[in-house]
Amino acid sequence: MKIVLTGFMATGKTSTGKVLAQKLNLDFYDTDALIEERAGRSIPEIFSKEGEPSFRALEKEVIAEVADKDNVVIATGGGAVMDLENRARLKKNGILIALMASSEEVKKRIERSSPCRPLLSGKDKERAIKELLKERLPVYRQSDICIDTTGKSSEEVAQEIIKELSQRRALTVNRKRK
Ligand code: S3P
Repeated sequence: MKIVLTGFMATGKTSTGKVLAQKLNLDFYDTDALIEERAGRSIPEIFSKEGEPSFRALEKEVIAEVADKDNVVIATGGGAVMDLENRARLKKNGILIALMASSEEVKKRIERSSPCRPLLSGKDKERAIKELLKERLPVYRQSDICIDTTGKSSEEVAQEIIKELSQRRALTVNRKRK
């Protein structure tokens, strides 16, 4: 079983992914963390020192590796699925789950959360979020499952995902494994 979490920045992909992996007894991978490990620097540093194309190249490399794994939950960065090749790799033998939130909710969470988002820094956040979200929503909506995360904790979102997967009988394979 391969579960891939996608969705806009600050929708809780990493925190939900960790909870989900623990509940389902699967390994957890976070592509942003793997990119930082590989580059030996933080994502804002990669963006500022090497530029977005360099970040996207690293992202592609990491996705090509983790997408081949089985019995995993993979949390991806918000822009990863915008690349066709990444999307195809992540979808192959996997279930793509998009965590959704409105632009207002995203803005609130970004203002509260610590990691710096280079795609938004120095910009009018409200406008930048709205524009990016508009461009990305059609892609996120193509996911196998879309979950609204507004007002929900990671625990609640993970429970909702498990319920959805059970209803689709997508958890049968994993249950047999245990
Ligand atoms: C990005 C989202 C970030 C990170 C990078 C680019 C994006 O991850 O990959 O800053 O293009 O939306 P989160 O979605 O975890 O914030």
